[in-house]
Amino acid sequence: MSKTIRKAVLPVAGLGTRFLPATKAVPKEMLTVVDRPIVQYVVDEALAAGIEHIVFVTGRNKHVIEDHFDIAYELEETLSSRGKKAALGLLEDMRPAAGSTSFTRQQEPLGLGHAVWCAREIIGNEPFAVLLPDMVMKSEKGCLAQMVEAYEKNGGNVISVEEVPWDQTQNYGIIERSEPMADGTFKVTGMVEKPAPGTAPSNLYINGRYILQPEIFGLLENQATGAGGEIQLTDAMLTLMGKQDFFGVEYTGETYDCGSKAGFLAANIAYAMDNEELAAEVRPLLEKLLKN
Ligand code: UTP
Repeated sequence: MSKTIRKAVLPVAGLGTRFLPATKAVPKEMLTVVDRPIVQYVVDEALAAGIEHIVFVTGRNKHVIEDHFDIAYELEETLSSRGKKAALGLLEDMRPAAGSTSFTRQQEPLGLGHAVWCAREIIGNEPFAVLLPDMVMKSEKGCLAQMVEAYEKNGGNVISVEEVPWDQTQNYGIIERSEPMADGTFKVTGMVEKPAPGTAPSNLYINGRYILQPEIFGLLENQATGAGGEIQLTDAMLTLMGKQDFFGVEYTGETYDCGSKAGFLAANIAYAMDNEELAAEVRPLLEKLLKN
């Protein structure tokens, strides 16, 4: 079993219905948190964890994501001729190396499991990461980097989780787990999507980062549709759990669900307050708003 994770899948083919009308012509992943599109934060997290190749599973209307990670020739020429070195440097720094991205289309939004399955030929027979691009993770050491560290010790499949208040477990995918091991990781022994109130096996929710073994593709291929009439990644993971180890890592850091309006707004405020200059302008505005 390979002990390195070289490739990551970013499923970006969803419809973003919770953000309509903003997402009618602009993909949800391209909405900006301060001055960068959401998807950029997630790509940066993947690269910081040592990922060498990112597979974007896109759909129609999503071509601007591909453009965002390409050279903007006219713009960059103009910036260069005008001596705008700082702006040019920004664009160069955020660009993944040539040949380190692939784009494939899901064609129809048949569910997250189906989106991941669409990457099977590009991933091949090796373990890989999945990062849900609407979950923006803010931490000193990235969430995927924390998981890769656990993977290098224990192998298997790895799921990142974090605590939610017990009275909110019905809104999340919740795991069942064994007692934590010495390094804080634990085995995941079950998973349940949106458990009825009072029935959750823990208050640890799956926050959108996975390391999976390639055997998941064969299971996804034959996976019947589940909740919402979609092919669910969770269903295939549950089957794989009968054959392979799944480890949980309790992520340390902040998570912003940018697929929801509240999470998106919170991410904007959090990242704005991180920037000294911007924070100086934003703080009095926020204080004024909160007073009213
Ligand atoms: P979500 O359900 O949060 O995304 O899926 P969505 O469908 O875009 O959003 P709403 O609920 O309609 O507002 C989680 C992730 O899985 C991707 C989405 O792009 C998102 O990043 N996804 C989901 C796909 O790529 N394909 C699908 O068929 C479904």
